[in-house]
Amino acid sequence: MTAATRPSAVPVLHHPSAGETPLGTPRNIAASRHLWGHFTDQSGWAEDRLPTVVRAKGTYFWDSAGRRIFDGLSGLFTVQVGHGREELAQAAARQARTLSFFPVWGYAHEPAIDLAERLAQEAPGDLDHVFFTNSGSEAVETAIKLSRNYWALRGRPGKTKVLSRAGAYHGTTLGALALTRIASYREPFAPVAPGAVEVPTPNWYRSDPEYWDDEEAYGRHVADAVEEVILREGPDTVAALFVEPVQNSGGCFVAPPGYFRRLREIADAHDVLIVSDEVICAYGRTGGLFAAPDQGLAHPDIITSAKGLSSGYAPIGAVLVSDEVYEPFATGEHVFRHGYTFGGHPVSAAVALANLDVFEREGLVERVRTLGPAFRRTLDRLRDIPIVGDVRGSGYFYGIELTRDQATRERFTEEEADRIRAFLNPALYEDGLYVRADDRGDVVVQVAPPLVSGQAEFDIVEQALRDVFTRVQERI
Ligand SMILES: Cc1ncc(COP(=O)(O)O)c(C=O)c1O
Repeated sequence: MTAATRPSAVPVLHHPSAGETPLGTPRNIAASRHLWGHFTDQSGWAEDRLPTVVRAKGTYFWDSAGRRIFDGLSGLFTVQVGHGREELAQAAARQARTLSFFPVWGYAHEPAIDLAERLAQEAPGDLDHVFFTNSGSEAVETAIKLSRNYWALRGRPGKTKVLSRAGAYHGTTLGALALTRIASYREPFAPVAPGAVEVPTPNWYRSDPEYWDDEEAYGRHVADAVEEVILREGPDTVAALFVEPVQNSGGCFVAPPGYFRRLREIADAHDVLIVSDEVICAYGRTGGLFAAPDQGLAHPDIITSAKGLSSGYAPIGAVLVSDEVYEPFATGEHVFRHGYTFGGHPVSAAVALANLDVFEREGLVERVRTLGPAFRRTLDRLRDIPIVGDVRGSGYFYGIELTRDQATRERFTEEEADRIRAFLNPALYEDGLYVRADDRGDVVVQVAPPLVSGQAEFDIVEQALRDVFTRVQERI
């Protein structure tokens, strides 16, 4: 398998070989025999390439070889408040003692009610109705089913297609996977759920040079291309458009000015719901507890979220739904026949509430808004390395794209890109930094440190990136 097709969620890493390596230890042998890693090349265990993480505190984790690594990806865009928070562990223990489990199928429990109410208060507009899931994929799956169900109940059962943007990742269940526009993730499982259609995504850095001086015109152009797809498919067949406020896959694509405003106009003109998939972007990651408003997407009909809702201390996702979309289900006439045993799990909901308490007490959303520009400035310093082409993102969520030539934005050849990717993750890890070299488009390294990070942590990230990018520069 080449680096280009190798799944990227778990980076392939060289475990430190100095002194004792975990290869041959009982835990490593057990892992290689029995633990099926997600998106993981299983040969990594035997080849001594996959670290075992044993503990974490604040912005660092330690592996079984005793190495301390800066968590520049917040686990997987998840650990907003940092690792090892006693109050979150206490919240889980307290709830497990009081009511460890009850479903929200025909019953309620206090943590689920409290969390739903709190999210509704914080959410933009009238997104006042909360459907809990266990993950981002389930949240996306829920939004697909809900948008189809909604239009059927509005007397338009033909509106079943769902649109998503080129290169986007929306999860792995067959419905969410249909929205995931990454061929190597879809092809092994074909056919995915029917009715998903791709639209273009704004990648201004890689746009036609005619747009390099006019990002707004580019935004209009890409939004108008979405309308062309809706018209081609037939507006009476399209239920919803899924967008991330900042698209992760491909490397932190921020919407050009005016782009989301135009998308909203187009969606309204053709009765298409907009689902803001904030599985990564919400809970402070890009600035704002919810990301859509700050990124110019004023009125999403549905928000999907997970990850940072509990900072990863317990699995939970939440789908936030507008009054309008909720309305057919409000009166008892119709039931949304969908759910998960563990959706809104009391322990996860209690942990999420405690997590939001930390957000509030420590002003984490404000912190990202205040310090985000300093993070950008720190990363921008890397532009003095000739292969650093673009630094883009928002809040504490950035992608750094490498290029052959800063002026012309020339791409690396496939062979060069594969070599660079294969080098980046292990080299960064050896420098004490866990981030991610995305392999789903051009060569981009993504960074998303815990929201408790400040200038000292930004500097750690910059230093390791500088060292490794300079070494890449010397090798090509
Ligand atoms: C935008 C987006 N949607 C959905 C998902 C799927 O979330 P999960 O891995 O929790 O199923 C992800 C995961 O990274 C994501 O980034």
